[in-house]
Amino acid sequence: ATHVPFYEKDCSSITPPYTQLIEKWEYVRELLNNRPLTLAEKILYSHLNDPEKSLSGGGKIRGESYLQLTPQRVAMQDASAQLQFMSAGLSRCAVPTSIHCDHLIQAIDGAESDLKRSIASNKEVFDFLESAARKYGIEFWKPGSGIIHQIVLENYAAPGMLINFAKDLGRWTDVVIDSHTPNAGGLGLLAIGVGGADAVDAYDWNSLGTEGPSGLMSGIHLTGKLNQWATPKDLILHLAGQLTVRGGTGRILEYFGPGVASQSCTGLATVANMGAEVGATTSTFPYTENMRAYLNATGRAPVARAADKAASMGFLSADEGAEYDEVIEINLSELEPTINGPFTPDLATPLSKFGSFVKEQGWKDELSAGLIGSCTNSSYEDMTRVAELAKQAKAAGLVTKVPFLCTPGSEQIRATMERDGVITTLEDVGAVVLANACGPCIGQWKRDDMKGEENAILTSFNRNFKSRNDGNRLTMNFLASPTIVTAMAFSGSLSFNPMTDTLTLPSGKPFKFAPPAGQDLPTEGFTQGNTDYYPSPTPEPQPETEVVIRADSQRLELLEPFQSHFGDRGLELPPLKVLMRVRGKCTTDHISAAGPWLKYKGHLTNISENLRTSCALLAHFAVNDEGGNVNVAFDHDRAAGETETDTIPAVAKRFKARNQPWTLVVDDNYGEGSAREHAALQPRFYGCAMIVARSFARIHETNLKKQGVLPLWFADKTDYSRIGSGDVVETIGLADLIEGRQNAVVTLQVTKRTGEVFEILTKHTMSEDQLKWFRAGSALNFIRSQMS
Ligand code: F3S
Repeated sequence: ATHVPFYEKDCSSITPPYTQLIEKWEYVRELLNNRPLTLAEKILYSHLNDPEKSLSGGGKIRGESYLQLTPQRVAMQDASAQLQFMSAGLSRCAVPTSIHCDHLIQAIDGAESDLKRSIASNKEVFDFLESAARKYGIEFWKPGSGIIHQIVLENYAAPGMLINFAKDLGRWTDVVIDSHTPNAGGLGLLAIGVGGADAVDAYDWNSLGTEGPSGLMSGIHLTGKLNQWATPKDLILHLAGQLTVRGGTGRILEYFGPGVASQSCTGLATVANMGAEVGATTSTFPYTENMRAYLNATGRAPVARAADKAASMGFLSADEGAEYDEVIEINLSELEPTINGPFTPDLATPLSKFGSFVKEQGWKDELSAGLIGSCTNSSYEDMTRVAELAKQAKAAGLVTKVPFLCTPGSEQIRATMERDGVITTLEDVGAVVLANACGPCIGQWKRDDMKGEENAILTSFNRNFKSRNDGNRLTMNFLASPTIVTAMAFSGSLSFNPMTDTLTLPSGKPFKFAPPAGQDLPTEGFTQGNTDYYPSPTPEPQPETEVVIRADSQRLELLEPFQSHFGDRGLELPPLKVLMRVRGKCTTDHISAAGPWLKYKGHLTNISENLRTSCALLAHFAVNDEGGNVNVAFDHDRAAGETETDTIPAVAKRFKARNQPWTLVVDDNYGEGSAREHAALQPRFYGCAMIVARSFARIHETNLKKQGVLPLWFADKTDYSRIGSGDVVETIGLADLIEGRQNAVVTLQVTKRTGEVFEILTKHTMSEDQLKWFRAGSALNFIRSQMS
């Protein structure tokens, strides 16, 4: 599609410096003896701080080392890390940075009133964010402007770029991250979610750089063409079923082949977005015509022209003969719509089998609500596809049978939908259009029906953990494309297959949907809508601005630096009490619940109270499952009046009060699902020094490292079962590791409650710099120490 843009943005700060990037890529290519490179390698290597150092291992970077990279932009979400930045004593950001307010808008009855209400109830936080942005020269996207990832795709992303995003940097003390950062990969770049502390590195400390693992590369070879009902969402839902939530861990997914070019840029963004659900570090695609059209339509013709030139030099696609660590073949022509869930994004069922799946499970064949939107599926194309279905239904006299909520991804999409009649079309069939924000995707949904009742919802979101959307653990949440969600909202039944089934009209006649085509880009170009939402690009800092945090604030709190763990045992940890052993799936939602707790994200003490609920959930997975009361034995040092059995947060608090550091023993893929940094901050706040896992989810593991919690992996996974709550663990060999002795191995000496003593071996993924953070007590402590 070609479009004349209605507007053209100032692209000076968003056009990648292709000349320098290409020079560096060519330099690295020579160092690597001109071997063919994948696209991801080209982007990574062209952003290396010090190619010689990174390549010192003889050119074997993939999967074997950490790269020192220079990000070009940082985007932050809501309220968390600005206090850290402030405490570092810097006056401005080193790279262009933006703040986005999308998490705190609660969905109740529609965009206008929801936004007004949420701005009033979160005024203190938004004012803080806005003043901090002004003081330090950060672009501030007001509440209601849209979801961070959609805004980044529309405004900042550019082919060949390296972007890091940090979620919740609204508070300088906190370090938070974001996991759907890879959404921007739809424009053929590498977008990697990082911690808030990483972002602080980036904007203060370009010399330190952001550290990123150079994971393995999976090539996804796409052939064929999606059929009329299948969408890019179905591609990623299908792949999630194939790879499972662990299958992409530590990998970059690079798509290639003839099936890439036929998909829209925003469709590719959907695929990249949900790469997070299979644990991938990020996903990317070669530069396409549709990417160029999207750049032009979103006012970035200068970026498109520069990208065309870079592509002509071979920078924006893989070299002929580039090798991947594995190649997955997918024929798009064979894909059918897919529905994933409940409770995990990798339980994939093809639409044609979903009805019988529901029956086999003994679930009621009833849908209770349909929700479309989120950063995954809120593009103009998504909305016009569902509007086509709505038009067909309206013409036949149908309205949706269940509540149908729709979240536009940004003000630009909302305004363009309004101009093109899409909003009216949706409202005509019963849709409630919500504010441009995360809304129900992050649990900001005031749902009054179905409280405590088992029910099923269909969403076009990316996550479907228990309680995620409405706080009801009995809500079964299934993921599907916006098209399928919409069609099923008209039927109200889970077994309805719009490809084959008919609905009965009031007249008794049958009605069958025709497959919707949608429109990838608006014929008349996008309209920006309310320009009050848009910040001026790279504003100058206004150092005289006062950033206020009230002493009695319940929403914002300065964070005291964490103390180093080390004491009498030198660089070995003091004896650690095992708080609990966690069995099975443990997501960051389990560790630190969202929903009503989100309002405390700027106040660590207050949000840590949610360890009460989240740990109750953890206890659900514990070996000694006692429904929220986990048996933590501390016979030999129990204080008067304390019982042997208590809730996890209560015990954690007591450990903290008596300076008893503690550890957790956890299962596979610990911390999967989100980049929520509070899931690392809160245990650290209560005195957790180390977590020993069968395996970790990548971003959560990095978050633990940043906060000064040592993540160790069992060398032999069966050792997991040998340690339980109340045991005491001591490190042996940690000092050697920290001091950089070659081949240092950390052994754990375990003293069981019975008195039995044994040793087990561990592995780790700590880099040289990460060990420095750990020694200092946290990454931010380390940064501060380097500043003085
Ligand atoms: Fe927001 Fe949900 Fe995306 S919380 S950033 S819409 S995953």
